[in-house]
Amino acid sequence: MNVLAGKKLLLGVTGGIAAYKSVELVRLLRKSAAEVQVVLTGAASQFVTPMTLQAVSGRPVRQDLFDPAHEAAMGHIELARWADLVLVAPASASFMARLANGFADNLLSTLCLATAAPIVLAPAMNQQMWQNAATRDNASLLVRRGVELWGPASGDQACGEVGPGRMLEPEALLSQLCSRFTQGPLAGVRVLLTAGPTREPLDPVRFIGNRSSGKMGFALARAFTGAGARVELIAGPVTLDTPAGVERVDVETAGEMEQAVMARVKGCDIFVGCAAVADYRPDAVADQKIKKNSDRMEIRLVRNADILAGVAALPDAPFTVGFAAETQDPEEYAEKKRIAKRVNMIAANLVGARQGGFERDENALTLIWDGGREQLPMTDKVSLAEKLVSLIAEHYENRHSA
Ligand code: CTP
Repeated sequence: MNVLAGKKLLLGVTGGIAAYKSVELVRLLRKSAAEVQVVLTGAASQFVTPMTLQAVSGRPVRQDLFDPAHEAAMGHIELARWADLVLVAPASASFMARLANGFADNLLSTLCLATAAPIVLAPAMNQQMWQNAATRDNASLLVRRGVELWGPASGDQACGEVGPGRMLEPEALLSQLCSRFTQGPLAGVRVLLTAGPTREPLDPVRFIGNRSSGKMGFALARAFTGAGARVELIAGPVTLDTPAGVERVDVETAGEMEQAVMARVKGCDIFVGCAAVADYRPDAVADQKIKKNSDRMEIRLVRNADILAGVAALPDAPFTVGFAAETQDPEEYAEKKRIAKRVNMIAANLVGARQGGFERDENALTLIWDGGREQLPMTDKVSLAEKLVSLIAEHYENRHSA
């Protein structure tokens, strides 16, 4: 049975070029047997016509707060009560600002204030606007108040720029909605996850890095979302697409990763350190490209903070899961790390030229916890991540009864 069948979705469309994609989104939602009521802002009607959206949704589109005909049928308060979920896609920077400030100056913002249903925004805007401090503040305020942000994705923008701000594609929003309505074992749980390598700069053109592709961490982010969790992913430099519904923050160095984690860890329920974090960074970063002036050169390295151990040592530490990438005796070394870093679970991962692990699509792991372990044989990282997430969910649920 389609999980969206009969669900009442209020789709708000605000002004932005991505508004044209809302037509396809409505078509997909209708195909999934959801009931869709479209609410269009004035600016949105510059990009997509009410007539088109009425045709695909099968319902008259609502636009005005003061519309006697519509208010006589289903008033705006009734409409706010009708919805099982409010999805605003695309959500413009201006709409986010309006919502963050509690304005009730158009039908959509009023509905958002008046509804008890979950509100989800799919932001879409120029990358500079998304990264502007005002938008960042509005986004975090809204998230703190329980509004969900899906996306934006990074990539080519209609304005010719490249960066974060693209609305998630209609198919991605659809799959996200399906998992939103699926009661997974981790429904409502907040997961913070690190993935990929880090890069420690030596000079403006060189860095010390590692072979992590980020595939395992991204597969985990996807699997956690599928289990109903809300996932924030702190990613080192990788060339992977953000899984639908995952909020992603890109970082480069171990220091940036630590900062991003510590800024978000409060209130998170599960932390998974899947990133291959550089243990050391060059003591000094040259301002200019280093020249080959002698036959030998030395680079002095200094220790980076251990993010996983830092999170596990917090007073209100989340349930923590680490990875141990080893080239030999993975289980023995992993168990030592689990105890030393005081984490709840650790996944021992054999890495190296002939094994799975880095730069591969398959992997095998042994998940170790206090008093037990389970071997997860070599398989593709997507299936492995699903298995791992269900084991983590089981232990997370039982954490207080141990
Ligand atoms: N980790 C971290 N911060 C670091 C180093 C590692 O959060 N500065 C996390 C990794 O994300 C992983 C775990 O710690 O979950 C183990 O990392 P690994 O490199 O395998 O082990 P180390 O603790 O660095 O030990 P060693 O290098 O001695 O093997």
